[in-house]
Amino acid sequence: MSLITLTSVTKEYKLGEIIVTALKDINLDIEKGKFVVLVGPSGSGKTTLLNLISAIDYPSAGRIQIDNVDISFLKRKQRAQFRREKIGFIFQFFNLLPTLSALENIEFSLDLSGILVNGKRSFDKKDIRETAMTWLRGVHLEERANHFPSQLSGGEQQRVAIARALAKDPPIVVADEPTGNLDYQTGVSILNLMKKLNETTNKTFIIATHNQQIVKIANVVISLQFNQIYCYEQDNPLDVSKLAW
Ligand SMILES: Nc1ncnc2c1ncn2[C@@H]1O[C@H](COP(=O)(O)OP(=O)(O)OP(=O)(O)O)[C@@H](O)[C@H]1O
Ligand SMILES: [Mg+2]
Repeated sequence: MSLITLTSVTKEYKLGEIIVTALKDINLDIEKGKFVVLVGPSGSGKTTLLNLISAIDYPSAGRIQIDNVDISFLKRKQRAQFRREKIGFIFQFFNLLPTLSALENIEFSLDLSGILVNGKRSFDKKDIRETAMTWLRGVHLEERANHFPSQLSGGEQQRVAIARALAKDPPIVVADEPTGNLDYQTGVSILNLMKKLNETTNKTFIIATHNQQIVKIANVVISLQFNQIYCYEQDNPLDVSKLAW
């Protein structure tokens, strides 16, 4: 059964008199537990699509259902709750809070979402700090815990953003160019982490990228071209360890 269903979704941006159609009449079904890779040239609507699926932005027309809930009908507060609990979003430009350290950026996100302890959300400060630190360690940044974003390299900021998105244990992880600023080895280790999480926890991953190699590790490939969508399954995705670019 589908986890994410888009029906006749159109997204237009209005800039005064000018209307930019980023997505036109898109239909899409994504099943739970898939590792989806989204490709398409710059300006083809990848970020737009991720923002719609994540309830960060509204469609101009059409319906978006996630886990049988039509998110287009959710009120502001419910949308925020949906994002907090269901979506881990790794932004193309990181969106770290500049006045918080690497560790605090992750803690802040967890203060809002809570962390899952035995199936229940806990807001315990000590648990949150431990979880945040565990995830910083997971992306090999424990020594940068007290650095502010401006004191981190682009790749390090990206890894903090990845740790922040994954730490709250969301069922859906949406990542916009998560390896764009990473060297090959760090990129592969992040993809490895994501693929393992996908396989062991059945989380659904949707990753936008310009890197055609990453397409090879997907179960499902979505290609955006000229506002239109093409979607296909890959039965034998490549193992991350065999990736090269
Ligand atoms: N807030 C906005 N206002 C107006 N137009 C926008 C806005 N955001 C995106 N667009 C336009 O919508 C189209 C799709 O943009 P989008 O950011 O989704 O592309 P993308 O595939 O993510 O590109 P990239 O690979 O460069 O990140 C582009 O033509 C872009 O100029
Ligand atoms: Mg983009």
